[in-house]
Amino acid sequence: MSHPGPQTQYQQDNTLQTNAQHSNVQHANPQHPPVLAGRGLFKYYGQVVGLAGVDVSVRAGEALAVMGPSGNGKTTLLHVLAGILSPDQGEVWLAGERVDQLNDAARTVLRRRRLGFVFQDNQLLAELPADENVALPLMVDGISRRDAIARARATLAQVGLANEVNRRPGELSGGQAQRVAIARALVGEPQAVFADEPTGALDATTGAQVIDLLIGAATHRGAAVVVVTHDDAVAARCHRVVRIVDGRVSER
Ligand SMILES: Nc1ncnc2c1ncn2[C@@H]1O[C@H](COP(=O)(O)OP(=O)(O)O)[C@@H](O)[C@H]1O
Ligand SMILES: [Mg+2]
Repeated sequence: MSHPGPQTQYQQDNTLQTNAQHSNVQHANPQHPPVLAGRGLFKYYGQVVGLAGVDVSVRAGEALAVMGPSGNGKTTLLHVLAGILSPDQGEVWLAGERVDQLNDAARTVLRRRRLGFVFQDNQLLAELPADENVALPLMVDGISRRDAIARARATLAQVGLANEVNRRPGELSGGQAQRVAIARALVGEPQAVFADEPTGALDATTGAQVIDLLIGAATHRGAAVVVVTHDDAVAARCHRVVRIVDGRVSER
């Protein structure tokens, strides 16, 4: 289902380079060092294998698609790389720093200050207007309301929502709401952005616009992007694809 397109080439660590030919996404600069890396990652849920030895890395400004059948470890990999779960074995590195051994409190701060997240269901707060939804993570981090709202509005403008800053999620289309979620993920200038099926609730056209916006805005800022997706069209818009089968990187 997710086999790569005809102009796809194998890269080191068994990931696949897409040509991103339908996309306005710029190519990642191969000179950039990996900003995010997992080395020898294992994760078990009791007897169930989540990850069985995964090596993966993503450079600054690069978007990696994670594909593969359901229940094979994609979300587990994303959660381990993002410090939501600790690996049972292996290492996670962010910008040259090992982060998998941090305690819970330090991981929470890491996620808030250095990582961004986009979910399938945007997880916006229904009672807050778009600018306050985007400003919230900054305010939680101690930035004044005034500065946080100003930064939120600037980020919303960058995702094409300058005129929607006062709308509540229920007053936005699905694609607009997902763009608010992207602004919220990017407002803190994260080093890496994680998205689990970010277009799963959108039609194909809107999904393509949203994924291009996410990749374009994140990579423009030099963030590494990891996108879990079932959608070949979404993967084709990323710079590389890795396929996870039975908790391992697969070549097929
Ligand atoms: N919290 C959990 N407790 C027990 N098993 C889990 C948990 N999360 C995931 N799993 C199992 O780990 C495997 C990989 O799951 P997951 O990473 O969610 O796969 P995917 O995202 O590819 O659908 C599956 O067998 C799943 O049932
Ligand atoms: Mg999943």
